[in-house]
Amino acid sequence: MKNTIIKAAELTKVYIRGTEEVYAVNGINLDITDGDFIALMGPSGSGKTTLLDLIGCLDSISSGSLEVFGKDVSRVKESKLVGLRRGHIGFIFQDFLLIPSLTAIENVELSLYFARKPQDRKKLVQLFEKVGLGHRINHLPKEMSGGERQRVAIARALAVSPKFLIADEPTGNLDTKSSQEIFDIFKNINKSEGLTIILATHNPKLGSQADHIIYLKDGKVVSKEESSLY
Ligand SMILES: Nc1ncnc2c1ncn2[C@@H]1O[C@H](COP(=O)(O)OP(=O)(O)OP(=O)(O)O)[C@@H](O)[C@H]1O
Ligand SMILES: [Mg+2]
Repeated sequence: MKNTIIKAAELTKVYIRGTEEVYAVNGINLDITDGDFIALMGPSGSGKTTLLDLIGCLDSISSGSLEVFGKDVSRVKESKLVGLRRGHIGFIFQDFLLIPSLTAIENVELSLYFARKPQDRKKLVQLFEKVGLGHRINHLPKEMSGGERQRVAIARALAVSPKFLIADEPTGNLDTKSSQEIFDIFKNINKSEGLTIILATHNPKLGSQADHIIYLKDGKVVSKEESSLY
């Protein structure tokens, strides 16, 4: 039987904006199982990024409970969250977030250094080959297309051997063809290695290729669907 790696119960995040309370995530119940490939969808402001930030231990929760790989993170202070996520969770963002003065491989090496993980250049080269970028490891981000930059970011996320991947609109800055290519990388990693992936997207054509789609609205789950493709 597969393990539950993320368990949320009545998970809530409230932001204070002036005198207003914003329930960005409002009582979400969720079980994510090892090997799941989940697409989070929903209108702008529905809480996708906030939910990913909570699951990714980037932000503290307001109420409810959250277990991430069996650890209750509900009451962990914000300053302690970094230790929980470091080297355990891979992050991929819309804007790639590469360091412009470092080459593709140096970007990955730096994140391994911060994650306090060993650096094995041969393994890194293999990783770049896996994401289709074996020929570009010594290029700077400005010498690469958006799709290639996102491949570097995926290599960086995978290099720390994370327990799961979180991707917030990873194709938001890419054209249709590159978006599908990047999505295919996620699908391949999920199918070949069983790595759990939780991804937010506005693109229904991509979202429908995940195993499950969770629709959010106003910080709540409005529906969960099994994808018809699997
Ligand atoms: N740091 C913050 N302070 C105050 N309010 C916030 C903050 N971050 C998000 N919000 C609010 O929380 C709600 C959910 O925002 P969130 O960014 O999670 O939505 P989203 O679904 O990711 O939207 P998008 O599709 O535009 O990325 C919105 O009403 C947003 O304005
Ligand atoms: Mg968002």
